Amino acid sequence: MDQPWWKRSIVYQIYPRSFMDSNQDGIGDLQGIISKLDYLDELGIDVIWLCPVYESPNYDNGYDVSDYKQILSDFGTMEDFDELLALAHQKGIKIIMDLVLNHTSDEHPWFLASQRSKDNAYRNYYIWRQSDPSGKEPNNWRSVFGGSVWEYDDQTKEQYFHLFTTRQPDLNWEEPALRQEIYDIMKWWLDKGIDGFRVDAATYIKKEPGLPNLPCGHGERYVNAMAGYSNRPGIRDFMQEMKEEVLNEYDCMTVAEACWLNPEEAASYVQEEEGFFNMIFQFEHMGVDRGNGKWDSQPWTVPDLKKRMAKWQLGLQGRGWNSLYLENHDQPRSVSRFGDEHTYHQASSKMLATFYMLMQGTPFIYQGQELGMTNVRLPDMESYQDVESHTYVRHARENGVSESDILQNLWRNSRDNARTPMQWDHSEHSGFTKGTPWMSVNSNYEAINVADQLKDPNSILNYYKRLIEIRTKYEVAIFGDFELLDPDHEEIAVYTRSYQDQVLIVVCNFKSGTPKFELANYVQSTQAEQLAGNYDCPIQQIDFSLLQPYECRVYLKS
Ligand code: GLC
Ligand code: CA
Repeated sequence: MDQPWWKRSIVYQIYPRSFMDSNQDGIGDLQGIISKLDYLDELGIDVIWLCPVYESPNYDNGYDVSDYKQILSDFGTMEDFDELLALAHQKGIKIIMDLVLNHTSDEHPWFLASQRSKDNAYRNYYIWRQSDPSGKEPNNWRSVFGGSVWEYDDQTKEQYFHLFTTRQPDLNWEEPALRQEIYDIMKWWLDKGIDGFRVDAATYIKKEPGLPNLPCGHGERYVNAMAGYSNRPGIRDFMQEMKEEVLNEYDCMTVAEACWLNPEEAASYVQEEEGFFNMIFQFEHMGVDRGNGKWDSQPWTVPDLKKRMAKWQLGLQGRGWNSLYLENHDQPRSVSRFGDEHTYHQASSKMLATFYMLMQGTPFIYQGQELGMTNVRLPDMESYQDVESHTYVRHARENGVSESDILQNLWRNSRDNARTPMQWDHSEHSGFTKGTPWMSVNSNYEAINVADQLKDPNSILNYYKRLIEIRTKYEVAIFGDFELLDPDHEEIAVYTRSYQDQVLIVVCNFKSGTPKFELANYVQSTQAEQLAGNYDCPIQQIDFSLLQPYECRVYLKS
């Protein structure tokens, strides 16, 4: 059977604001991306996921869309977009767009109309409730970023519902006319020639009918989400309709952001015939170092991380397809989180890449990840840009969290860690802009940048190219069945991928120790060839009995 192209693809995620600035206003833009297409082509990626570039007041950096068919002037014009799409296609690179369909900006004309009176045609595009004269909120739901989901609006003296910030009112998917508008937007972009969508907050579009109070108010986000707004019964009807009205008509790729799902539920979303999307972003492994919510950091263990990944590998095997990622614009940098950004920066960055990119699924690389870009430590809370971080600071202060704990938490988990400008070279502001960057460049850009890594055959960047080559050259790296070996080993991760008569063996040391390792203990063969590794060793039949700190090795047995 012919396999769809997106199974063989490597996706590169661009956060346009921080990628490359072409006109020196300090903000990355579409012409900036165009100027780096050769770089992406040489890296070997197949698809660009472009974070939102639509018209937006930018309260949540574009995830608050005020016009889905316009390009934000900070980023350029629709002509720039068309040029980017055409030039990318010439190079064989596809582009998928971020589709924000759970909410809009409060400046979207639909919301402005909806807000005006209780009986206009757009009123029902959003979720409005009567306001209790005592000021009580219509229910006890908490927003994803903290605080109530309700916001009082003076014009009609009612409250509107928002799962994210107050500037992002949720769309009411129960309204058929609204759904048609969304499908129209999707078709408009697909007809333009884009290659698919990353669907933002996809599993949140159906709310529990009647919006009843939830068992827990503050805190327990999981319970809230499960009972109130995540993957609620009936959501499949919306998705089925979207599939029939839009997606079935195009050869496009879709990946849906889907927090809180388990593999069983996810399978029904991504099954090849009955599913709605090609793949989803699950969050299981992103929770490995978190307790109750993202600001509650917890120690993590290697067995736990491995098992979370394996649960999805096995859960979807033969039923659907996984997306593979360690970073995106909402997560801290992976080398700071799971590796050692100081002593073993290069080794641990390469090891992490190996660990996730050779699993079964479509790998996503977030800009700068291919250099081992790290978290940033901004000097004070005011230097943070992200609205989620600001919301956190406000609520943490109200709850009496100490200032130094708040700053530590921002250093560890703020989304701004991933949003510092791309580190291109040694020049001022890392070659990202000659103006004043909208967000300060990470001070380590002289040690970590594209220019140096292009020249160094042992760089992290060149190692990513090697991994991409492996995925291109060996079918086993794409289609092989996954098996986790030695799940309880505290330091190393070992897994195999098997396809026809080939076996890929991936070995990753997650610690700075030198654990014993005998390939023969894992696979019965001496005929394994080493395809990649992060220590300088000849690529040949070698069987070292100790792993070096953060060492990884990839073997092929055929
Ligand atoms: C998704 C996006 C995130 C955004 C949120 C609201 O989680 O990835 O950046 O803030 O949705 O749109
Ligand atoms: Ca610019």
